[in-house]
Amino acid sequence: MEHQHKEATIPHVLIFPLPIQGPINCKLQLAELFCLSGLKVTFLNTIHNQERLLRHTNVQSRFEKYPGFRFLTIPDGLPDEHPRSFEQFGDIISSVQTVAEPFLREMLRSGAKELVTCVVPDALSYYVADIGNEMGVPVIPFDTLSPSCVWVYMCLPKLIESGELPFKDNDLDASVTHIPALEGLLRRRDLPPFCLMDYKTDPDFLAALKQVERIPQSHGLILNTFEDLDRPFLSCIHSYSPKTYAIGPLHLHLKAKLSSKNAPSSNSLWEEDHSSIKWLDAQPMGSVLYVSFGSVVVVSKEEILEFQHGLLNSKVKFLWVMRPNILKGGESDVQFMKELAEGCKGNGYIVSWAPQKMVLAHPAIAGFLTHSGWNSTLESVSEGKPMICWPHYVDQRVNSRLVNELWQIGLDMKGICDRSTIERMIKDLMEIKRDELKKSIEELSKLAKLSVEEGGSSYNNLDCLIDDIKELAR
Ligand code: UDX
Repeated sequence: MEHQHKEATIPHVLIFPLPIQGPINCKLQLAELFCLSGLKVTFLNTIHNQERLLRHTNVQSRFEKYPGFRFLTIPDGLPDEHPRSFEQFGDIISSVQTVAEPFLREMLRSGAKELVTCVVPDALSYYVADIGNEMGVPVIPFDTLSPSCVWVYMCLPKLIESGELPFKDNDLDASVTHIPALEGLLRRRDLPPFCLMDYKTDPDFLAALKQVERIPQSHGLILNTFEDLDRPFLSCIHSYSPKTYAIGPLHLHLKAKLSSKNAPSSNSLWEEDHSSIKWLDAQPMGSVLYVSFGSVVVVSKEEILEFQHGLLNSKVKFLWVMRPNILKGGESDVQFMKELAEGCKGNGYIVSWAPQKMVLAHPAIAGFLTHSGWNSTLESVSEGKPMICWPHYVDQRVNSRLVNELWQIGLDMKGICDRSTIERMIKDLMEIKRDELKKSIEELSKLAKLSVEEGGSSYNNLDCLIDDIKELAR
């Protein structure tokens, strides 16, 4: 292995995202930041997602200007007709693992044709850390979850050892006590859903444990945040993983490095509907609520109808993303969607996928009704748009709690989904609490922008990460 590293001059990073939109998006941004710093990058994607990416974006031509960059693809091991919806996430992950393991072993083998300096997988692909350790190639996971949730995951063993988990009763409002930096802030209902069920054999719980176990065995850890936002959690994570690099918000970081005044580049797996921007252009400033539940959340028709009525009753104009695969159970109901769009006409505009970063930057947008995925949260913070949070799983409940309680930049609706609560929350966001929420999120937005400028924390942390990788190649 020593031999492998001494020969490499330009560091070569192998980036391997989870096969879903959020991580692919972040990791392409990271890939471009690495290319701009002169590193060689191989981006390993599944064939299925690569085809979607090439169909809906200009990534091919965008990355052509970087001679050290290339895409590499592997099958995801699933049959063509597989729906690949988040409801089958476990199947997708284990199928990709079966294909990726031998592929990565071969690629990282000492004496392989093209030497890899380090691998940047998702933290959830914990098996990559094992392969890296076995083959002597450093692994630096990029965890695309929020740092606060990464820290919650890191504290799971402590919660269990202390006897706090499993919880002894059903009091969801009880405070969680064994998570330093989040004491007094998190209630049981704010934890990832597996903590509230019989978690011991739950695949999400086991995966969370495995991923945090591997972090101290890895070379470092990359997180998409900036220090002014997540300082308390970052300092806890540092004690667990000393080489933790907070280099976000990545989309702002890339924009700053490219000095680009243009629209942000798309890394979408769906076709972006730019008619949404035209529609926004015709709306008064600060009058529209943007509604989107990210790339993987699935909802029932009943929930959609509650949202429709809550939105219409609020009398606030809205732009609403309804992914083609948003219905629970993989259902596709063209008639239902058509009637929904008809029913919203006049007050709302529905698209199947929006250019979200452009939407959030649009002056007509006043706020964001979101599922609290970490990318959406960071994008909203970056544009200074307060949120209403309707969280589901993974990190989303932790994120929504912090949005409401710690940062005070939005309102946490948790799992509630009834039209009167939705209407009330919208009125609070758009009128009653508008000024205070706007003030706090605009302050954070300024800090986010400063963090990626020369001398800012994320700017400096990216430099340190790149120096670290260059050192590995010496
Ligand atoms: C998943 C998990 O659900 C989330 O909890 C975790 O934090 C990251 O991984 P996802 O649900 O897709 O992510 O949500 P999010 O992290 O918000 O990412 C969605 C991405 O899709 C954002 O970058 C957003 O800009 C983009 N998007 C979404 C669009 O470009 N257009 C849309 O219409 C909707």
